[in-house]
Amino acid sequence: MPQIPLKVHELTVGQLSARSGVAVSALHFYEAKGLITSRRTSGNQRRYGRDALRRVAFIRASQRVGIPLAAIGDALAKLPDGRTPNRADWARLSEDWRTELDERITRLINLRDRLDSCIGCGCLSLDSCALSNPEDRIGDRVNGSFLGG
Ligand code: FES
Repeated sequence: MPQIPLKVHELTVGQLSARSGVAVSALHFYEAKGLITSRRTSGNQRRYGRDALRRVAFIRASQRVGIPLAAIGDALAKLPDGRTPNRADWARLSEDWRTELDERITRLINLRDRLDSCIGCGCLSLDSCALSNPEDRIGDRVNGSFLGG
């Protein structure tokens, strides 16, 4: 991984890509979503502050545990003065996201267990398949117990 000398205060998109391991196209996407920012040189080239490295690390770490970009953007937007997440911010957010990850794992385990009953079946019955009609809304409506919503 290429090192950026400390005296270098701004990075080109190529340097940011090389140092972070994130494709230039992804960096442009993050910028379009407002997750990172750059200034433009007189030649209209992007320059990123060194803190962009930490922001990109934060985004990648968050994405690896399945946090949607919109939620990552919300978390970044809540930081005072648009600052880059510091150690305490990441400690707090990673704890919140651990809870979300646990909930997602529980939902996936439930889905996997429902899928077990479909393996080798193929009926996709609206009456009996737990995956094709998981809430059984049609059955509730037919039985008069649908509460709407
Ligand atoms: S396909 Fe038959 S139970 Fe789901």
